[in-house]
Parts: sequence; C-alpha cells; structure tokens
Amino acid sequence: MTKRLMCFLTAAGLLLGLLSNGCRAKPTPTPSPAPANTVGQFASSGRTVFITICSNCHGEQGQGITGPALIGSNAFLEKFENAQRLFEYISIAMPQEAPGSLTRQEYLEVLSYLMLQNGFIDEKVPFDPDGLEKLPLKK
Ligand code: HEC
Repeated sequence: MTKRLMCFLTAAGLLLGLLSNGCRAKPTPTPSPAPANTVGQFASSGRTVFITICSNCHGEQGQGITGPALIGSNAFLEKFENAQRLFEYISIAMPQEAPGSLTRQEYLEVLSYLMLQNGFIDEKVPFDPDGLEKLPLKK
C-alpha cells in the first residue's frame, strides 16, 4: 500500500468516525411543547385580526364606535348563547362592509379573542373548532 493511499484511508476513517459519532449523539431533550391549539394561541392571532379589521367600527378595546361594543360592560354577546352561533354571525355578517371576506381560520381566531376577552373561556383550554356549540357564552 502506498503512503498516499494509507493517508487517504486514515482520513476517510476519521471522517466516518466523526459522522457516525454525530449520528450517535443524543438529541438534546426539548421540553414537551405546549399544545398548539389553546384558546390563548388562537386569541393572540385573533387580536391582530380584531385590531386590523374590526376595531375601525368596534373600537381598539372593543368598546364600540359605529358598531356595538363587543368587549366590556356594554357588550352583550351572551345573547348568541354559544360559540357556534357567534361564529356563524361573524363569519356571515362581518366585517359589515365586506361580509365573509376573512378566512375560516381568521374568523375562528377572532372568535376566540372575543370569547377570551369577555371571560367566556380560559386561555389554557384547547380550542376545538368542531365543538363550538358545546362552548356556552357565559361568564
Ligand atoms: C364597517 C364597520 C364594521 C366592521 C369593520 C365590523 N363590524 Fe361588526 N358590526 C358593525 C355594526 C354596524 C353592527 C351592528 C349590526 C346590527 O345590529 O345589525 C355590528 C355587529 C357585530 C356583532 C354583533 C354584536 C351585537 O351585540 O349584536 C359582532 C359580534 C360583530 N359585529 C363582530 C365583528 C367582528 C369580529 C369584526 C371583524 C372581523 C367586525 N364586527 C367588523 C360594524 C362593523
């Protein structure tokens, strides 16, 4: 075997060693991720939707301007009784100048924002878009 070949083989061996070592290295343990679908998470995107689209008429705090109050002591979303009915109303009728113009996801996000701000639901609860009729609008 020539010296050059030896050299090459040693280098290749080292490289292989490094690689396999890399493969054997334990993945660093990550803390178990928070569920990606809590009310809090939906609502934080929902806040952006609300501020961008709804606040023009309903106010930055949802206190009401040209549109009625949606958050706070002047709001009365309880009349929709459950989240499904509120969801249907906003996704069919709002924003008033362009009804139905948001995505389903955006309507769900702004719905959870309104529910959280009104104290109808806790932020840590998993938000299930298919079980909205089971969520009462009660404080
Ligand atoms: C261009 C103004 C305007 C925008 C933008 C708008 N709304 Fe409204 N909204 C109104 C008006 C006016 C009413 C009252 C309609 C009625 O009583 O028939 C209303 C009513 C509502 C109601 C019913 C409140 C109640 O107590 O009856 C909800 C809920 C609501 N809007 C949610 C939203 C959401 C969520 C958005 C953003 C996606 C939005 N609105 C954007 C004008 C607006």
